[in-house]
Parts: sequence; structure tokens; C-alpha cells
Amino acid sequence: MDRYISVKDLEDGALELLPKAVRDYYKSGATEEYTLAENRRAFQRLRIRPKCMIGVLNYNLSTTVLGETVTMPVGISPTAMQRMAHPDGEVANVKAAEAAGVIYTLSTMASSSIEEVAKAAPNAIKWFQLYVSCDRQITKELVLRAEKAGYKALALTVDTPTLGIRRADIRNKFTLPPHSRLANFDNLLTAKIHDSVDHRALYNHTSDLIDKTLTWDVVKWLKSITKLPIVAKGILRGDDAVKAVEAGCAGILVSNHGARQLDGVPATIEALPEIIDAVKEYDIEVFMDGGVTTGTDVYKALALGAKMVFVGRPALWGLAVGAQEGVQHMLSILRNELECTLQIAGTPTVADITKDMVRHESAYSR
Ligand code: FNR
Repeated sequence: MDRYISVKDLEDGALELLPKAVRDYYKSGATEEYTLAENRRAFQRLRIRPKCMIGVLNYNLSTTVLGETVTMPVGISPTAMQRMAHPDGEVANVKAAEAAGVIYTLSTMASSSIEEVAKAAPNAIKWFQLYVSCDRQITKELVLRAEKAGYKALALTVDTPTLGIRRADIRNKFTLPPHSRLANFDNLLTAKIHDSVDHRALYNHTSDLIDKTLTWDVVKWLKSITKLPIVAKGILRGDDAVKAVEAGCAGILVSNHGARQLDGVPATIEALPEIIDAVKEYDIEVFMDGGVTTGTDVYKALALGAKMVFVGRPALWGLAVGAQEGVQHMLSILRNELECTLQIAGTPTVADITKDMVRHESAYSR
């Protein structure tokens, strides 16, 4: 692992190892991939303003998220079908999160089941990402299984009335590889996809699991069947953030789905301040994901008001190069970079990272 010094190194290593169709599925964004690039570039437009001569001996990265203590403000976002990155898939990923003391979010479209993942890492703080199906009974069963297996929150994906257009997947005729399965559903669904001669079978069957009629009323229904806190994942506007809070969500995950849904939407770090401002009167935790690959990215998001950030692809890259060890290595890179940033910026604890610690580059070019 020592040759991977940065998350970028892990990405380069993973891209070399993965088969083309999987590599393209993981790395792609929607259509022209303009927002995909902006998710990274927008971080570069922010400057950190360090404070000097502050005693930083007792620096500390830990924080609390929805009442749970995490060792650092970085968690793992849900990404579908992780066994394509490595045969251990979600199981390796959650074990890495457990060892590192950070949150792991399992996708509805995972290739390991809710129960397998819970059993592999009983002490990990696990969230379950939820796509709400037209058949509410299917959704209810998933939610009750997650609650029973000890998951601590539901990340309700709100940005996917339909799947975004990813051109590489269309070109590659991307489908579920023979060794992979949609493990949260019965074997029938996986068999249907594997047996189909139509290369759009994966797309068609997963689209069937997503309800196009969804409105904020679904939060009320979810709250009637579960006590788990609900985090609205995929918010990009202040008024939507307010609607999420008023509907009863306990958290907001500012996300553009890794730029995979709609191209031309803002980078998430650009959208974050609008959302923080809109919900400032409410008792709500705001998180973000999208384009985070360095400790300074994490720092900038915290300065703009995020309680924590999540990473999606970086965990896939870690998984591809080294299973559990690879994901742990990715997390330790981010931890080291964040520890270094906290000290040199003169903000030894997460609570010290206030808004004045960053400024947009335009303020320096006047
Ligand atoms: C995702 N994402 C995602 N989101 C979700 O709610 N359910 C899902 O099943 C998936 N699946 C998925 C697969 C792949 C390959 C990627 C790259 C992303 C979005 C994910 O949770 C997260 O929002 C982004 O990955 C964050 O951006 P970065 O960290 O990948 O830049």
C-alpha cells in the first residue's frame, strides 16, 4: 500500500486494474461530465486562511453525527455493486469503516445483503441508503430488515426519479457481471437480469425499483414504519432543504450523486452554503459528498458548514487495489491530510473550523 501516497494514486491504480466496463461504470458522470469535473474544480477555487501561533498539540478529529461518535468527519457514501471492484465488495468496505471508526452507508443496489454486511462488521456505524420502490411492501421490508440488523439511519435518495444518462455505460452495454448480484432482493431479480439477452436488463429492472411518483409525503410514511432517522440524500437547493426538514428528516446530505444524475448542476461544495443558510434556524445536521479526495477538501466543506463529508469513488478505488486494507489505506490518507490541515491552519478541533477559515479565490483577485 505504501506506494499509494494520495487518493489520486489509488484512483490511478484502480483504473489500471479494473475491467473496462466496471471502470467506466464507477468513474462516469452524466452526459458531458461537466459537473463531474466541477465537483473537483470548485474545491480548488476555495482558499484556506490559516491562523498562526496557535497551540495545536491536542488536535482532535472526532465529532458526533446523529448522536454517534465518529473518529473523523469522513464517512463512506453508498455505491452500487461493490463486488465488481473486489470479490469481498461491501463486506471489505464495511470492515474498513469499522476499523477506522467511520460511518459506512450500504446501497439498496448492493451486491452484499443488509444482513451479510451487518454480520461482517457488527460494531460499524452503518446507514442504509434507500431507493423507494413503487411496491411499498418491498421498501417496507428493506427498511425493517435494516432496522433489525442494527443500521442507525436511512439515507433516502431524493435525486433519482429516473437514472441519469451515462454514455460510457450505453456504449459498453453495461450489465450485471455474472458473478455479481443485487443481494438485497430475492435471487429472482438477479436471475432475471443474468438470463436476459437484452443488455438494458440491469437498467430496466433497477428503474422498476424506483418510484417516479415520489414526493416529500414519503417521509411521513417512512416515519410511520421506522424509528430510524432519515437523511435526505441529493439536495442541491435551500428551499428543498427546508422541505426536507419540514417533512421530518433529521439530516441533509448535499449531493449531486457523484455528478451521475444531471449534468450542469452545481458542484456540491458550491451548493453547500445555500443549504446551510436556508436551514440555519433548524436543528438539523448537514453533510455533503462529491469530489472529496483530499484532507483540505474535507476541511473546506467543514468550514462552509458541513458536519461531515462522505466519499463514494475513493472507497471503490481503495477496494479495487487492496480490499479492506485498500479502503483503510484510503481513509488513513484522508485522516493524515486532515490532521495536518487542522494543525497548520491553527484549528485543532473540528469545532474550531469556522466559516472565516476559507475564502473564495475571487476575493484575492480584486
Ligand atoms: C453512486 N451513488 C449512489 N448513490 C445512491 O444513493 N445509491 C446508489 O446506489 C449509488 N450508486 C453509486 C454508484 C457509483 C459507481 C457511484 C460513483 C456513485 C452516489 C454516491 O452515493 C455519492 O453521492 C457519490 O459517489 C459522491 O461522489 P464521489 O465521492 O464519488 O465524488
